[in-house]
Amino acid sequence: MRFGYFDNPSKEYVITQPNTPLPWINYLGCDEYCALISNTAGGYSFLGDPRDQRILRYRYDNIPFDRGGRYLYIRDDDSGEFFSPTWQPTNQKIQNSKSKILNKSKFSNSKSQTISNYECRHGLGYTIISSEYGGIESKITYFVPLGENLEIWRLEIRNPRSEIAKLSLFSFVEFCLWDAVGDSSNFQRTWSIGKAHCEENTIYHTTLYNSWMNIFAYFSTSEKIHSFDCQRRDFLGNYGYNSLEAPLAVVRGNCSNSVAIGWAPIGSHCVKLKLEPGEKKTIVFVLGVSNKIPNNKSQKTNKSQILNSKLKNKIHKKIRKFQDPKIIEKELRKLRGYWDDNLSRLQIETPDQDMNTSINIWNSYQCMQTFNWSRYASYYEAGIGRGMGFRDSCQDTLGFAHMIPDKVRARILDLARVQFEDGSCHHQYSPITKKGTLYNYSDDQLWLILATANYIKETGDFGILDEEVAFAKRQELVPAPIGHYNKSEIRDPRSEIKSKKQIPKASLYEHLSRAIDYTWKHRGKHGLPLSLFSDWNDCLNLDEGAESVFVACLFVEACREMEKMLRAAGNKLHEIAKYHKLAEKMTKIVNAKAWDGKWFKRAYNGDGKPVGSKKCSEGKIFLEPQPWAIISGVAKRKRAKQTMDSVFVKLFTKYGIRLLTPAFQRYYPEYGEISTYPPGLKENASIFCHPNPWAIVAECVLGRGDRAFEYYKAILPVSQNNQAHIRKTEPYVYCQMVAGPNHPDFGEGKNSWLTGSAAWNYMAATQFILGIKPDYEGLVIDPCVPKKWKSFTVKRVFRKDTYFIKVNNPKAKSKGVKLIRVDGRKINNRVITPFGDGREHIIEVEI
Ligand code: NOJ
Repeated sequence: MRFGYFDNPSKEYVITQPNTPLPWINYLGCDEYCALISNTAGGYSFLGDPRDQRILRYRYDNIPFDRGGRYLYIRDDDSGEFFSPTWQPTNQKIQNSKSKILNKSKFSNSKSQTISNYECRHGLGYTIISSEYGGIESKITYFVPLGENLEIWRLEIRNPRSEIAKLSLFSFVEFCLWDAVGDSSNFQRTWSIGKAHCEENTIYHTTLYNSWMNIFAYFSTSEKIHSFDCQRRDFLGNYGYNSLEAPLAVVRGNCSNSVAIGWAPIGSHCVKLKLEPGEKKTIVFVLGVSNKIPNNKSQKTNKSQILNSKLKNKIHKKIRKFQDPKIIEKELRKLRGYWDDNLSRLQIETPDQDMNTSINIWNSYQCMQTFNWSRYASYYEAGIGRGMGFRDSCQDTLGFAHMIPDKVRARILDLARVQFEDGSCHHQYSPITKKGTLYNYSDDQLWLILATANYIKETGDFGILDEEVAFAKRQELVPAPIGHYNKSEIRDPRSEIKSKKQIPKASLYEHLSRAIDYTWKHRGKHGLPLSLFSDWNDCLNLDEGAESVFVACLFVEACREMEKMLRAAGNKLHEIAKYHKLAEKMTKIVNAKAWDGKWFKRAYNGDGKPVGSKKCSEGKIFLEPQPWAIISGVAKRKRAKQTMDSVFVKLFTKYGIRLLTPAFQRYYPEYGEISTYPPGLKENASIFCHPNPWAIVAECVLGRGDRAFEYYKAILPVSQNNQAHIRKTEPYVYCQMVAGPNHPDFGEGKNSWLTGSAAWNYMAATQFILGIKPDYEGLVIDPCVPKKWKSFTVKRVFRKDTYFIKVNNPKAKSKGVKLIRVDGRKINNRVITPFGDGREHIIEVEI
């Protein structure tokens, strides 16, 4: 069963039924302002950091599931009946999208009518939800204009009936008091600090959570308002016991002009509309934030200081600008152009339509959102704990470097800033303060090498290696206080940035080199790297002294990358030998100590017992080290094939490759968190999507294109569209995991959007299956495709040039480039040396 379809010419996914198995969401905003919106207008917004600058309140795990959002209510003032054009929160009956509305009926006095012609178009950076109820047609376009800290809701409402429609329109948002942690926990305080009021048709949310919070929100409408509410309890009525399904203001037909001084600040406008038969009207709402409060000495600041007339004029000018329908159209065009540009850097045409849809549109789009927000803010990550993950952010750059390389450059330097002098690093950091938390993970620092190498290969910018970056201090681990009202505990991220004493700095290259040294110095009894709290698998928490085979392989790959990087840079050539030797030594250790007969062991526990071995009763084989043994070149020839055959035989299912088998049936203290999950979920033998593409890459290295593609398709969300009732998560984006065969919900996805599967699947598909791989010397062409593919084309912008690549496969092979012609001239290797002329070039390839 499906709930929608891909409209590729418009680059939209169209949801045709509002009651999707889970909220199907979109991200609006490409920079600091981020708005999550579901297909029924649920969601929240924040600026720069979902924890410290949360604009709209969202209630995770609520009943009903998706609450807090950008809601509108439309009320027929003759009958008193009302509905939400986004279906929620009024929850009208749904008319099957296939049946037709025959009469343009009026509202009746009961909820007997159905919402019909519902459609939600999630586009790139915008969402349009339209529907019809009681003969009133509405369409709302939500988006964040490029470079602005605001969101626009444009309502187009039409009365196709033969009589005048007298309507009341209500808006509704609930403000978060900025600090999302305090807002959802410290009620003894937060219920007394909220402040919101209305001036003309603009509602201001001016709660000052902390003295340093130099921010306020405004919510305005293009219409003259009849009334407003800024206090939730007055809008809902019955002291706040009513729900958003039928707020008193809407039932009654007007707001009560409430002001919030304490309790829960909201924004609701009530607008009276009279629509003639056939008349259409456009009404715009602008919700935004500003941080230009002239006086930020908190306790003394009052409303008039915050909203002095100069600032108000500035805000009003902005609001007026974005209420202008022409400007809105222009901004929408700009947004579309921005995405067309980003996507046009890599476009493909292969025999597989699902792959084309994913790579050309959705996978790329998801790569930007994962790059922007790591694993911080989604419908499954509450945006209050984790911050930007170090290893996750490093890997996220892999799918994004070709799109906006400058942002990747800045991110790599930010990441280096949370590395300690000894080469290890914080596990995560705040996007505003850049301050890290948690450490003692064994793999984090090595990913920085892969991210940097990929960035330089894409851009040729070796200069990044010379950038001086300060090291982090370990004492930054001290947890940030949650209650911020005690002066001594006030946490002002801006002042931290200013006062941060820059302790020793070193070049980025030195940072990378220390990452290698750290891993080499921290090894265990077998000579393998220590696993520490965990490696990539957060939930495999082994004993003290445990060693990780996965990190060993990653280390070899990192050393190889260092070697190649120096060779290409023509710099520090004397250090090449060091990395070469380290890689060789570790390769020997892994082959001697970690080979289990048919696959590689996962680890050794502190007591020397193997993990992920045929000797184990559960968890005999784990996925992670197998592909990395091939990618890094640790496993060669027969052993490499044997390893990946074991993955196929033991771990592959119709929905992808599970993380391990057999699943752990009970809790084992010596394995840690992994065994707390029921079999088939999360790290305990689910189909964890992130490492699946590693197996695709490994199969491509081995030249087995059919198997690589089988893996690619098994995990591809687009290909799940027709069984969305099983998958449940959005068919347009990857999710973190899919329940494994041990679980009753086999095939059900969980935790969509922010996952390393986005970047890695993109990388596996474009650089390994299609084989268009940036390298230091140029663009390497080395596809590994299904044998039955006769040809495919790729448009790739690389450095300054645009390549139109056509690959023919007349002999039905998977791999092995026989011939390359560049602008008609045969070349003798597989590398297209950059022209640097900013022109278009034709590349013909034969496998
Ligand atoms: C999700 C985490 O964000 C990621 O860092 C980790 O590698 C995987 N879970 C596996 O545990």
